Amino acid sequence: MKRILIIFAHPGYHRSHANRAMLRGLKGLEDVKVHDLYQHYPNMFIDVAREQRMLRDYDIIVFQHPIYWYSCPAILKEWMEQVLEYGYAFGPEGNALKHKYLLAAVTTGGSAASYSTTGHNHHPITDYLLPIQQSGLMCGMRWLPPFVVYGYHSVNDPDYLKMKGQQYRRLLTALRDEEFTPQQLHNATYLTDLLKEL
Ligand SMILES: Cc1cc2nc3c(=O)[nH]c(=O)nc-3n(C[C@H](O)[C@H](O)[C@H](O)COP(=O)(O)O)c2cc1C
Repeated sequence: MKRILIIFAHPGYHRSHANRAMLRGLKGLEDVKVHDLYQHYPNMFIDVAREQRMLRDYDIIVFQHPIYWYSCPAILKEWMEQVLEYGYAFGPEGNALKHKYLLAAVTTGGSAASYSTTGHNHHPITDYLLPIQQSGLMCGMRWLPPFVVYGYHSVNDPDYLKMKGQQYRRLLTALRDEEFTPQQLHNATYLTDLLKEL
């Protein structure tokens, strides 16, 4: 059984629909901890030693956040810059995160169709996640196919959001309980591709 840590970053959580539905979906799930960065560090001063200690206890690290300007909210970038230090996360002695899994769980304003070569965002969301993916790989982490909640109809459709919350719960449960083979994880583009395997 794997332990899951969700590094959560949302600067306007009181206005959130999609991320709120995702977190609601995880309520009461054993061995899944949500760590809300803006709640802990409203002034952005990250306690690096505390974060590094916390990471030690988990096997799957999830970065959950809305996509802001094709990237993550500022505090998560700050967290990466401070916490993923040379000698801790990378470099010859920096093995603390080696072999842990990294999952991006993101929400967008743009629709799924907009995140394609013919849509107005021109690229799939996986392209925008490349800096996160490569950062994880630099730390020796294993990249998981991302979980994405696209926008467009989501804000006004509570049933859709509830369904995405349930999917998120099901998929994190499967990752926690190691229900997927490495091959299945390798072959999937998005985590939701694996729902059919369950
Ligand atoms: C500052 C800012 C930047 C944003 N940039 C993007 C973007 O680059 N691409 C996109 O699809 N949506 C963008 N959005 C929309 C958010 O991603 C969307 O509102 C959010 O994912 C919905 O999740 P929530 O209901 O939990 O807030 C942006 C929103 C804000 C406030």
